[in-house]
Amino acid sequence: PRRTVITGSASGIGRALADQLRERGEEVVGVDLRDAEVLADLATAAGRAAAVAAVKQLTEGRVDALVTCAGVAEPSPLMVRINYFGTVEVAEGLRPLLAGSPAPRVAVLGSISGTMRNDERTRLACLEGDEEAAVARAVELTDGGRPHSIYPSTKAALAEWARRTAISPGWADAGIALNVVAPGVVLTPMTTGLFEDDAMREVMDAAVPMPLNGYAPPEAIARVLAFLVSEDNTHVTGQVLYVDGGAEVTQRPADL
Ligand code: NAI
Repeated sequence: PRRTVITGSASGIGRALADQLRERGEEVVGVDLRDAEVLADLATAAGRAAAVAAVKQLTEGRVDALVTCAGVAEPSPLMVRINYFGTVEVAEGLRPLLAGSPAPRVAVLGSISGTMRNDERTRLACLEGDEEAAVARAVELTDGGRPHSIYPSTKAALAEWARRTAISPGWADAGIALNVVAPGVVLTPMTTGLFEDDAMREVMDAAVPMPLNGYAPPEAIARVLAFLVSEDNTHVTGQVLYVDGGAEVTQRPADL
């Protein structure tokens, strides 16, 4: 059976995906802070390296797919460490294992917020691989009352990283498909708090209108991820796929 590593497998989208793949008889290796095969804190370089080493040991080096769902939405400089570096370093660390699969696939969780106003300095420091500079800038944004621009910066950086990386040496030429799935609003523990506050909910509905079917259950995002990391996906790579009920379309002119 195919074997997929899922970060953030203990909750929300990652958990829904793990359930779907296991129901099909596939193998899942979850990586999370709790309730997972591999317990690791992806906020630190040491935690990421330990996660990669543990996956390697547990799987004897055989991994077919990776989906990175670990992420946080609570505004803080930690977002840089978890959302961006916790994704990129795990993907790069597992790339040599993936390259040994007959049908290797990677999908990364971005967000509709990656299309929104972000902080260029945070985004560029991420893309340069300078974690401490990106965190220092995020601290500055937090102190300056702009912590809300950190999340979109990490998600925009992930989309750009994936587009660059998908066609770089060691990826497409090794048969590895690499895509981003960018949800709108998904009903998971990450968003529960937002719904408790009417004012927050109004802001969210204005920023992320979802004309097709409204807020998504995590299973809806998981089904798209499952396709992108399946053997059936032979030619989709380097894409940012919005699974957002049309939110992204409402934000840009139709002639693009
Ligand atoms: P969630 O909060 O339900 O699950 C996130 C998982 O990541 C949790 O199990 C958590 O323990 C794990 N995690 C957090 N920090 C970690 C760390 N330092 N090391 C290891 N694991 C860690 O969130 P949800 O909603 O399932 O989100 C999954 C991904 O989808 C995230 O990247 C999020 O940014 C993205 N997303 C979610 C949206 C939503 O509306 N829920 C919308 C757009 C994107």
